[in-house]
Amino acid sequence: MGSAHPTVSIVVTWFVKTPDKNVPILTKMSTAIITAVLDISVVWSILAVTQKGRYYPLDDTLCPRMNQSSLTMTDCSHIPSPCYVLEEQKLVDNLELIDSVQQRAGVTIILALKGFAMFSVFPLIKKYLVGTTASSLWEAQLAREEFGGELHVYAPVYPEHEFDLILQGATHISFNSLSQWQRFRERSLAAGVSPGLRINLEYSPVEHDIYNPASPLSRLGIRAEVLTEKWGDRLPPGIEGLHCHNLCENNSYALETTLQQIEARFGRYLAQVHWLNLGGGHLMTSMGYDVEHLVRVLQDFKTRHPHLKIYLEPGSAIAWQTGFLRATVLDVVKTAGPTIAMLDVSFTAHMPDCLEMPYKPKIRGARDPQPGEPTYRMGGTTCLAGDFMGMGDYCLTKPLHIGDTIVFEDMMHYTMVKTSMFNGVPHPAIGIIRLSGDFELVKTFGYLNYKNRLS
Ligand SMILES: Cc1ncc(COP(=O)(O)O)c(C=O)c1O
Repeated sequence: MGSAHPTVSIVVTWFVKTPDKNVPILTKMSTAIITAVLDISVVWSILAVTQKGRYYPLDDTLCPRMNQSSLTMTDCSHIPSPCYVLEEQKLVDNLELIDSVQQRAGVTIILALKGFAMFSVFPLIKKYLVGTTASSLWEAQLAREEFGGELHVYAPVYPEHEFDLILQGATHISFNSLSQWQRFRERSLAAGVSPGLRINLEYSPVEHDIYNPASPLSRLGIRAEVLTEKWGDRLPPGIEGLHCHNLCENNSYALETTLQQIEARFGRYLAQVHWLNLGGGHLMTSMGYDVEHLVRVLQDFKTRHPHLKIYLEPGSAIAWQTGFLRATVLDVVKTAGPTIAMLDVSFTAHMPDCLEMPYKPKIRGARDPQPGEPTYRMGGTTCLAGDFMGMGDYCLTKPLHIGDTIVFEDMMHYTMVKTSMFNGVPHPAIGIIRLSGDFELVKTFGYLNYKNRLS
């Protein structure tokens, strides 16, 4: 058994990196040597069990993309808890797919910062996407500083004192109402930024009201009848583009219907603009998404409107399934019903969409319980009564103990951009499992991050 054997590498790495200062170094070394000549897999299993909860398991349930044959493999014991962990390879996979869509369909896809703004990976994203879309001054500033390229801005309303700063570096700006356009028209035109209007299609397949921009009383976008009543068949002079956003985690068939609605309600205006922004909500990187249909739908639309430059601005699709939130069990509380796992993360502070949507996040290695099975309920670390996963409990393969790791899947989009420090709970660190398999800790947060938000 050579030293390049993957399991040997795991064990040796574990011994060298173990932070337990109480184990004498000689004991560690001799154990390592004995370990190397025994059946390493069996020894590792025993160690993993006896060290349960003290060290994070070095197995592929936590680091699925670890290169098992490499000596420089990730040492997951160096992932702190809690921590958002992006897996770079998965982001590359998404970007490759998104790039192939934009190449084949002849459209331009930009990153919506509201969904994913982890700027440490912007250099990678820039290899595929020409720009970003921002929904506020600070997102625009981040885009300018860290991304560059095209910068599209849309906010439901622009504060007077921020507007000139927002325009700096912006290439496109969309207005939510005719009055906002009137107010900022001259300044936009003087700055040379391409102006557009956000339209409301009065159609959306989104079932959750909180994510439905086209509900009857929605404040987002201009309805066709409002535009026609004020401007007839001509768009206000100076307008160069139209922007709509009515999807959320939807498929290409919803986009097809969306395009039909655009043509039906706003078709007379299409010849008067240069660009059309189809917003976000196109979940093209998710399993089962009909990418070929998406390409066809976009190509057909372009054939009907060849003069239009088409933009899509997804957030979720870019970071979909690209990483996890690593958490730890701090206490295990028995109840008459499910056993509660008290975690070092919070649903309200770190995974707010779970409560807002609401939805039940996947936990690696867990499944939905069958009737009568022992179940665990995941409890957050704040004192909010509702800070627990109320959408369903989990069945785990083995009993949970204090110190065990819980891995919440798909926690890259709409998490870091939405977190709070409610209750003064520590913000999860942020790290990346690089293409090499090495883990890089890119940011940690401390007390001052909390204090500086208060006065
Ligand atoms: C105007 C606009 N554009 C783009 C997006 C990004 O959407 P998603 O992350 O669902 O792709 C949103 C999300 O709310 C949005 O409101």
